[in-house]
Amino acid sequence: MHGNVVTVVIAIVALLLVAAVAAIGLKRINLPYTVGLVILGLLLGALTERFETLEPLRSVTLSPEIILFVFLPTLIFESAFKMDSRLLSQNLAPVLSLAAPGLLLSTAIVGGLVAWLTPLPLGAALVFGALISATDPVAVIALFHELGAPKRLEILVEGESLFNDATAIVLFGILLAVVTEGGDFAWGTVGHGATDFVRVFVGGLLVGGLIGYLMIRSIALAHDEPLVEVAISTVVAYTAFIAAEHYLHVSGVMATVGAGVVIGTLGSTRFSGHVREYLHQFWEYAAFVANSLIFLLVGMSIPLGELTHYAVPIVIAIGAMLVARAVVIFGLVPVASRLPGAEPIGLKYQSVLFWGGLRGAVALALALSLPEDLPQRELIISLAIGAVLFTLVTGGLTMAPLMSVLGLDQPTLVEKVARAQAALAGKREALARVTGMGTAGHFSTRLLRDLEQRYRGEESEAEALLENLRRECRTEEIRGVLWSEALAVERTVYRDLFESGAISEPVLRELELGVDLQRDGLKRGEIPHGMPGATPIELRLVDWATRLAGSLLPRSQFVQTRRVQALAAKYERDAAVLEASRRVMTEIDHIAELAKAEPGLADECRREYESRSFMAMKRIDSVAEHFPEFVRAVQAQTAHRMALDGEADAVEKLATAGLVPESIARETRVSVKATQRQLQRHPVSALRPDPRDLLSRVPFFQNLKPDDFERVLARLVPRTVLTGETIIRQGARGDSLFLIARGVVAVLITKDGTPPQRVASLHAGDFFGEMALLTAAPRTATVQAVTDCQLYELSKQDVDALCEVCPGVKEALMEAYRARKSAD
Ligand code: CMP
Repeated sequence: MHGNVVTVVIAIVALLLVAAVAAIGLKRINLPYTVGLVILGLLLGALTERFETLEPLRSVTLSPEIILFVFLPTLIFESAFKMDSRLLSQNLAPVLSLAAPGLLLSTAIVGGLVAWLTPLPLGAALVFGALISATDPVAVIALFHELGAPKRLEILVEGESLFNDATAIVLFGILLAVVTEGGDFAWGTVGHGATDFVRVFVGGLLVGGLIGYLMIRSIALAHDEPLVEVAISTVVAYTAFIAAEHYLHVSGVMATVGAGVVIGTLGSTRFSGHVREYLHQFWEYAAFVANSLIFLLVGMSIPLGELTHYAVPIVIAIGAMLVARAVVIFGLVPVASRLPGAEPIGLKYQSVLFWGGLRGAVALALALSLPEDLPQRELIISLAIGAVLFTLVTGGLTMAPLMSVLGLDQPTLVEKVARAQAALAGKREALARVTGMGTAGHFSTRLLRDLEQRYRGEESEAEALLENLRRECRTEEIRGVLWSEALAVERTVYRDLFESGAISEPVLRELELGVDLQRDGLKRGEIPHGMPGATPIELRLVDWATRLAGSLLPRSQFVQTRRVQALAAKYERDAAVLEASRRVMTEIDHIAELAKAEPGLADECRREYESRSFMAMKRIDSVAEHFPEFVRAVQAQTAHRMALDGEADAVEKLATAGLVPESIARETRVSVKATQRQLQRHPVSALRPDPRDLLSRVPFFQNLKPDDFERVLARLVPRTVLTGETIIRQGARGDSLFLIARGVVAVLITKDGTPPQRVASLHAGDFFGEMALLTAAPRTATVQAVTDCQLYELSKQDVDALCEVCPGVKEALMEAYRARKSAD
């Protein structure tokens, strides 16, 4: 046993060494990494057979369990975690059509052709069809990154492979069960298979999503400890996979996809910057190790001799696979891109999708997992190895030339302008620093003069390049460049505000989503207009739940708390928009100058941001007018959060410089975090205004004796109502009275089905709801909040009690009743 462990460790270390050296060497000779590894694996395989000293390398082999349970969760998680979930959701229609119907179609075509042209019976041929239809784009994605290929292409290729791994594994299991149980393809089996398929696919996604969400919640306990958070993320990747696959019998791959996407998306704000960085690096490393070992071991396990034995069926299988891929891509993709909401996918992208559908580890793992007693096992494995090898080598080697023929490796004109601008800005900054060095005094003047001259030359070259590119651009394109930079500035401001604690996470998500949607619109030629901000789906769910709870239990603590939070969020959002708009306005001239844009374009942009800041300011003023103490509390809270942030930063810097021990930095971090969390948890208590202050303005309380005043106070139920909300609905039953402490409401009446007419506006100090209370009849009007309002609600019982101690109240109510009734 001991000897065994040592041999395995030696083998793994040796393979990693080969992989690391190969990674450097292959880059020099421009061979895709995975392809190179497979070739090296083949060589290593041959060498281990010849030299006995290399024998230990054979002690690690690729069993299907190792691929599926050790490597796959890592690879899937990494890919899902870093995926841009918004881009994925925009391309979900084509991705899912390729991964589900596409995979089924491909299985059927490969199965049919292989059964027809080779000795494999139909059942076994379909099993082969399923396993060989799962794509594995590592080599292609790496290449995309190198060539700077369009992001959308990457999402299509990577998204397809992420989901079709799951479909292939599920379909493979179902087909294999049919084949080994000797059954025929009855329609009943197919129907059963289809429902099974949906259950396994969707079930997996839900299980993984839930586990991922629980992890994100538990992160709060980890107190910003990157090591612990990395450990938790690993536990999640594997727990999701194993819980789903092994215990719940739903798709493990889909579970890992679900967990990865949830953590990647919510984690972008829940993890602090350095933890995020740490997580990305860790998972990148893990994926590198997994891929390196897989492809080396694949190479080593290929029995070249056996492959030549099955050369003819292998060639047929490869042909069948290519035909199937062509039918799926060129047949299905154009249909999928016509689905509602989908963007079209052109022929160039289709060609890359066709040729970039490489096959890899999943196909091999499934082939190797075929039961030993399956008569055609050896043939299927050989076909799979042959096909995988073919796609890796041909696809891997010819993808780059194909991309260049299609022109997909070329930056667009707008990208070129952006690059030239960045270069120019860089040169200018360098020049400024060189000039600065002159004043420092200890550099030789000659040296600085030379350096300055060099940079001046480079600056004018960069300017000339930009000028040339600029001449090629149409006004529309320059407008696009200008706006996309303005939006980039805006987004940075939001991030900075969040990082410094000035805005909360949900507000950041709304603002970022808003900017991203405007950026998408820009690509379609739409110029951004109006306040940014769009509600991400998870926040929409919370809103919906609050509204539901609000109509069922309007007085519950939960609803009230949520309302105050929503008010705080609106205020934060407006303050952030104001700050971002001001920043854009100060930078727009500089941006326009760099882009060499006409003054009209910069003016257009400035006008838009002026109008945004005007709107934001108006809303902030309105909140400040109606809720002054609230605004004070929010500001105090924000200031406190920002101060805490500064405190943590300062200690962090000292620790990095080695001036204080790491333990002190950690202590500060933990205590700052704890205070920040406390601040976040108790916004409501800090924000709720004092009713004494508010009620003293309501006229009929003014004559109350102090004792009675206190008694009334105890019975009042505070209600925060947001702009546009309906407080009372005409015709509904009701027996409570509302007092307005802050804000404005509108009274609306509908008569005989006519549209509602506004009959009155009520302000702070007014009351409403007395008519139904006095007559026990239904409500005579609908009352809606015109601004955010602070109200107090009194039940009939309490009003009666109040009338007894203070006869003036009853009179006031009756008087209002009579006046309003005659007005209606
Ligand atoms: P109630 O009928 O209980 O519910 C709707 C409320 O709107 C009503 O009591 C009054 O308080 C208020 N209301 C109805 N008509 C008018 C009006 N013309 N002017 C001001 N308030 C009104």
